[in-house]
Amino acid sequence: MLKARTIIIATCLVLFASTGLVQAKDERTPAEKAYEFRDGLFNVVEWRFVKMIEAKFAGDKAGFHSNAAQLVALSDMIEEGFIPDSMVDGTLAKKDIWDDWDEFKGKIAEFKKNMNELADPAYDIAGFDPKKVGGDNCGSCHRAFKSKTPHKN
Ligand code: HEC
Repeated sequence: MLKARTIIIATCLVLFASTGLVQAKDERTPAEKAYEFRDGLFNVVEWRFVKMIEAKFAGDKAGFHSNAAQLVALSDMIEEGFIPDSMVDGTLAKKDIWDDWDEFKGKIAEFKKNMNELADPAYDIAGFDPKKVGGDNCGSCHRAFKSKTPHKN
C-alpha cells in the first residue's frame, strides 16, 4: 500500500514539473522582454485595425467604434515597450526612436488622438478611408521609425 502511494506521489511530482508550473529560469533580458512585448502589442494593433476596417464594410457602426476605442487603449501601451537600450537582435525599431524620443512620442500622441476621433459615436464611419488612416498613422510612424530589416548586434 505504502509503495503504491509513494509511486503515485512521485508520478504527480513529475507531472507537476513537466506542466511548466515548476519552470526553468527565465533567461530573457529586460530588453528582450520589452521587444517581445511591443512586437506582440503591434500585432494586436494590426488585428484590431483590420477588425475596425471589416466593421466599416459590414456597416457595423458599434463594432467600428468599439475597435477604435480598443486602439486608443493599445496606444497607451506603446511607449512602455521602448525601454532604453532595447535594440535587441531581430527588432525592427530604429535607433532614431531613442535619438528623437519627443518626435516618437508625438507620433504616438497623434495616433491616440486620431483613434479617439474614430471611437466617438458621432463620427460618421461612411467617411472612413482605411488607406488614408493607415498611411497617416501606421505608415507615418513606420516610415520614420521602423526598419525594413531586422537589427543585428
Ligand atoms: C508611434 C509609432 C507607430 C505607430 C503609430 C504604429 N506602429 Fe507599427 N511598429 C512601430 C515600430 C517602431 C515597430 C517595430 C517594433 C520592433 O520591432 O521593436 C512596429 C511594428 C509593427 C508590427 C510588427 C512588425 C511587422 O512589421 O510585422 C506590425 C504588424 C505593426 N507595427 C502594425 C501597425 C499598424 C497596423 C499600425 C496602425 C494601426 C501601427 N503599426 C502603428 C511603430 C508604430
